[in-house]
Amino acid sequence: MKFFLDSANIEEIQRASAWGIIDGVTTNPSLIAKEGAPVEDQIRRISGIIDGDISAEVVATSAKEMIAEGRLLARIHRNIIVKIPLVPEGVIAAGALAKDGIRTNVTLCFSAAQAIVAAKTGAYVVSPFIGRVDDIGWPGVEVLSDILAIYRNYGFKTQVLAASVRGPLHVVQAAKAGAHIVTLTLKVLEQLIQHPLTEKGLDQFLKDHREAFDLTPA
Ligand code: G3P
Repeated sequence: MKFFLDSANIEEIQRASAWGIIDGVTTNPSLIAKEGAPVEDQIRRISGIIDGDISAEVVATSAKEMIAEGRLLARIHRNIIVKIPLVPEGVIAAGALAKDGIRTNVTLCFSAAQAIVAAKTGAYVVSPFIGRVDDIGWPGVEVLSDILAIYRNYGFKTQVLAASVRGPLHVVQAAKAGAHIVTLTLKVLEQLIQHPLTEKGLDQFLKDHREAFDLTPA
């Protein structure tokens, strides 16, 4: 399972990268907007930190303009994956970019039906937003499982990237379903690593060791 960091913030990416378990980065227009720099500049900086897939999303709304913008984004760095929203114009653009040999991440996917369309565009990745599906009272991980089952049925090569992941449980559910990638905020990544019983157990180990071998008070 690949871990991507869902952030455009340089400090967050540097911190997460230090753990050595981050395989790529996903951004979106909202994450880019938070950083206040033009997408090309921010993505170029991120490319210098992470040697892995980096998703950069178009903001154009017509297929023609999405294709032009996608080609520009792809030229920033060899690791760029062009994010295209799963809307009718995006389906046209994703198919055209794939035919150009440009890798796409078809995003804002909320159903298995949409994911079939994404695979048929030749998408490199599809991003079902499982947290936002949960938010409307439907089990997001069920959509993920359906997508993976359908992709296995037809041998679709599109990778399934679980997005809108709200906590460690989503990560475990996505892993049990067989998602290829999860994209995580720094907060969720930290939640994955930290556990109160681990911290409690380590404190006790160190306390016992200090009491036995080192009289210096903690
Ligand atoms: O990668 C998609 C992600 O940024 C959206 O997450 O929590 O806003 O639904 P969220």
